[in-house]
Amino acid sequence: MSSEPLRHETYTHGHAPAVVRQHAQRTADEAAAFLLPELSPGLCLLDVGCGPGSITRGLAERLAPGEVVGVDLSRETLEGARRDAAARGLRNLRYETGSVYELPFPDASFDVVFAHQVIQHLRERTNALRQMLRVVKPGGLVAVRDVDWGTAAYWPRDPWIDRFIEVHQQAWYRNGGEPQLGRQLRALFNEVGVAEPRITASVWCYATPAETTAWGESYADRLLTSMGEAPVQHGLASRSDIEQMAAAFRTWAAHPDALWMFIHVEALGRKPM
Ligand SMILES: C[S@@+](CC[C@H](N)C(=O)[O-])C[C@H]1O[C@@H](n2cnc3c(N)ncnc32)[C@H](O)[C@@H]1O
Repeated sequence: MSSEPLRHETYTHGHAPAVVRQHAQRTADEAAAFLLPELSPGLCLLDVGCGPGSITRGLAERLAPGEVVGVDLSRETLEGARRDAAARGLRNLRYETGSVYELPFPDASFDVVFAHQVIQHLRERTNALRQMLRVVKPGGLVAVRDVDWGTAAYWPRDPWIDRFIEVHQQAWYRNGGEPQLGRQLRALFNEVGVAEPRITASVWCYATPAETTAWGESYADRLLTSMGEAPVQHGLASRSDIEQMAAAFRTWAAHPDALWMFIHVEALGRKPM
């Protein structure tokens, strides 16, 4: 695999255990709710940028005996995903290391191609979506869901969390991604010529003690590991600023009034016949 497209692109969240652990909580029921009504057993599906595979395995369970393949750049993350699939005895699920820019499959290999919270991290977003379309059969489905960090809202306010939301997005832009991709998904689908686009939106809302603790503690841990690196490298924050942001998330997480929400946009469409 050539690393050419990746030389100018950095995955802002990184692959620290705190990041991967949080992604592994995701489910097909929630993350792919917009796609599930279109799925039936026997269809074959590619999950691009599948990460630890908790969504991928939910899709594999639904589509069996249809083949489901997860692709991700991170070998280490995929090792965990493979162990999980083996422990669950999922024989129709496999994982391959690879990049969305050079998907290691012939044209028209899959009935469905899915990417959850991936395209927002890429610099060449139209190229990525074109590659996804390439491997779908004509008339097959392409399904994408991305966050829009411009819609992040929370309570109670803390100047360090406000600063984090600003700096996180600035670092993300400098890494080549688009943290506000959600609102642009319709435009992206139109640009690439996806047929019959259907755009929907849903909200992640954390407002119970268990939810705010999980979210706030996870962001504190993530900031102190791989996610805090980009703002420091880009000169957007000092190491001590990052520590203050992490501490603010821990305080917020335990607050009885704590609430966090942001919007995720889903785009579903078909490869033209
Ligand atoms: C935010 S995680 C999402 C993981 C999973 N889809 C989920 O929602 O839980 C983004 C994933 O995209 C992967 N990724 C980033 N750039 C990629 C690329 N060019 N090709 C394939 N995967 C990529 C990262 O390694 C990471 O696992």
